[in-house]
Amino acid sequence: MPTTVGEFRADGETPLTMLTAYDAPTAAACERAGIDAILVGDSMGNAALGYDSTLPVTVDEVASRTGAVARATDETLVIADMPFLSFGVDEAESLHNAGRMLKEAGAHAVKLESGSHTVDLTERLAELGIPVMAHLGLTPQKVNQLGYARQGTSREAASEIVDLAVAHEDAGAFALVLEHVPANLAARITDELSISTIGIGAGKNCDGQVLVANDVLGLGERIPPFAESFGDLRGEMETAIADYVDAVEDEEFPADEHSHVESDLDDLY
Ligand code: KIV
Repeated sequence: MPTTVGEFRADGETPLTMLTAYDAPTAAACERAGIDAILVGDSMGNAALGYDSTLPVTVDEVASRTGAVARATDETLVIADMPFLSFGVDEAESLHNAGRMLKEAGAHAVKLESGSHTVDLTERLAELGIPVMAHLGLTPQKVNQLGYARQGTSREAASEIVDLAVAHEDAGAFALVLEHVPANLAARITDELSISTIGIGAGKNCDGQVLVANDVLGLGERIPPFAESFGDLRGEMETAIADYVDAVEDEEFPADEHSHVESDLDDLY
């Protein structure tokens, strides 16, 4: 499993795998399951922090969650997602915020929701030793302009995404997430770039795939049409919690094996 961005490259046979994680137990499970990279996505806003979108997520929140993921893994590439307005407003502040993810939190790289405004920043970050994963197509930080609709569906929009993909590769990005774009557009970009493309809702012809952990685990209330649940953790959690409530209410828990009676304190009760 890769721990440098140079190793995060498709071999042309087996697709790369990436999943989000926002805490230590999920990160440890990802590593044990053989995931190539963990994205500490700002999707934590909806998936873990109870927000309606990713916009309120802060640098401190991503840094704290990235720290938990990095501490729980040894052999997996950890990528911290830069939250809304933590980059792109002011260069020095962008570099400082991205630097925190490596220096304080232990990430190996950062991901930026990309556009024409991130080409120079990607170059500067890469120059400074902060590897950048770019992200094009549906970029949820632009929810107020784009909603969550599929992107790159017209010739003009598709060719703009191709141009931006090439510009970010040229600027030094080590990989590119393509979200919710037509599969034929993703295939064309994958063909055109030498860095790895990681698709989410972008068909099977990318170099790898990423999904949000809550969707894969069956933790969320609803999942996007391009995702799939491979488990039912929400159901399992509800069953376990209900069983615990019943056991306490029925006075079956704690049982004798869960308790200790100190003989020296016999006179107490
Ligand atoms: O924040 C996130 O989880 C993401 C992935 C969906 C690519 O950006």
